[in-house]
Amino acid sequence: MEAIVEWPEPVVRVQTLAGWDTIPDRYVKAPSERPDLTATAAGLANSVIPVIDFASLAAGGATEAVRAACRDWGFFQLVNHGIGSAAAARRAWRDFFALPMEEKQRYANSPATFEGYGSRLGVAKGGLLDWGDYFFLHLSPPSHPAKWPSSPPQLREKTEEYCGAVGKVIEQVKRAISAALGVEEGFMEAAFGAAGAAVRVNYYPKCPQPELTLGLSPHSDPGGLTVLLPDEHVKGLQVRHAGEWITVDTVPGGLIVNIGDQIQVLTNGTFQSVEHRVIVNAAVDRLSIAYFHNPQDDLLIEPANELVTRAAPAKYKPMKYKDYKMQIRMQGPGGKSHVDLLRTT
Ligand code: OGA
Ligand code: NI
Repeated sequence: MEAIVEWPEPVVRVQTLAGWDTIPDRYVKAPSERPDLTATAAGLANSVIPVIDFASLAAGGATEAVRAACRDWGFFQLVNHGIGSAAAARRAWRDFFALPMEEKQRYANSPATFEGYGSRLGVAKGGLLDWGDYFFLHLSPPSHPAKWPSSPPQLREKTEEYCGAVGKVIEQVKRAISAALGVEEGFMEAAFGAAGAAVRVNYYPKCPQPELTLGLSPHSDPGGLTVLLPDEHVKGLQVRHAGEWITVDTVPGGLIVNIGDQIQVLTNGTFQSVEHRVIVNAAVDRLSIAYFHNPQDDLLIEPANELVTRAAPAKYKPMKYKDYKMQIRMQGPGGKSHVDLLRTT
């Protein structure tokens, strides 16, 4: 598939709409897609997703907990991870999104690579939009330095420091996932090859009609593993669990780890990437930092021999991550429709 290099129509920054009384039609979701904010506000749909202690995981003591979380939720929270640089990274990005619009526009992105300041995914003209702006950068292989905002001055250093620490944590998580699958310790490492990494900082402005829209539509993450640094004050992430949308209650300081589509394919569905979405609210804005750890772009990802048997034959077709990613970027969030297209049956 050829990459499209321009947006199909002028991009509107959601931040510029935050002061209105109503939201434009293009952000209004179909009634069945709208969130039930009364249930969330009442705490009915809130849940603490499985919590895993990183020290225990790194010592090989969390295999059963990792297995249960990856199988039953596709998500877990990591506590006691020792990463001290998250707050500074978050602060730097809050300062970035508070800059005057002309300054941010210097980094306006295009669908050619998505790097930079963006306000949509998918390139369908007239398509429905989500209530969020973002900034996307590659870490490995890295984006060109000019793609990084020059203001605030500490932003790049603080982001790289935080992301470097997350990368180390992920190495241990991959080992724990290999153990949880009952395969060799280096299984995940080998399957991913020279892994790629990228970061997306999500900024969800205040929304005058949060009951009509979403900050990010239902999707599963296309890559390998995602580590999300949630907003320290504001909830917003919802995970689909047992058919319900559950609002994630984060433990203070916790990082949220989730399985992406590539692990679903690689494990032949033993571990599933789970749909999630973001709700917004009228009172406060919200910022999250998503770190994506992906397989090497040009490796074929397919159900691993170790996990395919005569009784459980391969459920997914092989595909290179770079081709898969391109497909999703052009189409935008689509629940689990993208990975479902890889099914063999
Ligand atoms: C994502 C994502 C959730 C959030 O960036 O893929 O799911 O809470 N973000 O911002
Ligand atoms: Ni996501």
